[in-house]
Amino acid sequence: MALSAVRRQQTAGSVVAGGKMSRAAEQDSDTADEAVRATCDDASICKRFAVSVGYWKDPYIQYFVRQARERKAPEINRGYYARVQGVNQLLHAFLKRTECNCQIINLGAGLDTAFWRLKDENILPKKYFDVDFPAIVARKLYNIKSRSPLSKPIMECHTGESLLIDAHSLDSSRYSIIGADLRSLKDMEEKLKKFGMDPHLPTLLVAECVLVYMTTEQSAGLLRWASSTFPTAMFITYEQVNMADRFGQIMIENLHRRQCNLLGVAACQSLQSQTERLLSNGWEAADAWDMMKVYSSLPQDDVARMEKLEFLDEKELLEQLLLHYCISWATKDSQKLGLAEITF
Ligand SMILES: C[S@@+](CC[C@H](N)C(=O)[O-])C[C@H]1O[C@@H](n2cnc3c(N)ncnc32)[C@H](O)[C@@H]1O
Repeated sequence: MALSAVRRQQTAGSVVAGGKMSRAAEQDSDTADEAVRATCDDASICKRFAVSVGYWKDPYIQYFVRQARERKAPEINRGYYARVQGVNQLLHAFLKRTECNCQIINLGAGLDTAFWRLKDENILPKKYFDVDFPAIVARKLYNIKSRSPLSKPIMECHTGESLLIDAHSLDSSRYSIIGADLRSLKDMEEKLKKFGMDPHLPTLLVAECVLVYMTTEQSAGLLRWASSTFPTAMFITYEQVNMADRFGQIMIENLHRRQCNLLGVAACQSLQSQTERLLSNGWEAADAWDMMKVYSSLPQDDVARMEKLEFLDEKELLEQLLLHYCISWATKDSQKLGLAEITF
């Protein structure tokens, strides 16, 4: 196999998940969930590496993730740059529209650091929620408890009674972390409500590389729950698209070898299947852009700075990668804030 083909195969595999091989041969649901949880490490290790090279700034990720032992390929780093900047751009637009009078719920947040970055920028929403499996949340909380650059900012914006923090949850005035399974909607909703989720506040829900790990029925259930719970809301997803072609098939096969199945891949066939899923589950307006289009609409002065960081010999490979991921978003707007106008 030519070198570029090998690299192509590695790239197609490493961007989607990574993580440990399961010891169990049969894929029972625990094993499958474990493989999904392992994708958290891959995402955060790749982000940490890209941050260490200077792709974007994140002073907090170092407290959650060890530095990668090996370098990540430039096309992977550029792919993560587009993902992080793209999601951030829509998130910032939502905060601007709502003047921060809103809440954000990050579904399948992993070790994401947005709460701390938004606090530094002085644009925190009224409340920020992270949700992930209890095992991932336990790791996140362990790092927060043991590292003051993480715990101090939470304390600084906490008012009132003492802050609650146990093995699987944290509740403070502006930030909560909840251990829940996104497929168990009743349990998740109860936990969110207990920690102050307000359905009447404009709400941004973010699912960055998450829905594809659930069946299409389960992700439809989550999208329907969100659209019926929040009258004024936006849902942002980042995940695979154009998965029926050869590159997409390699991504699926590589993950399958790691016991991790993309159960929701049916919604990732095209930009149209992405928007249809949103519109058929209660959302009023929706759009989806592949990452190639997102990349070319990001602020070009920063893109030019970023492109100088590392030499990229495989331009075609980056393009393939960007064509196989997308950001889709949907809105509902009973308060008439103009949410449907949010775009890149
Ligand atoms: C690829 S990682 C992405 C993490 C983070 N959103 C990011 O982009 O850095 C997928 C995350 O979704 C979480 N996840 C997937 N399915 C879930 C479920 N059913 N319930 C809770 N969390 C889930 C995983 O545990 C993992 O942390």
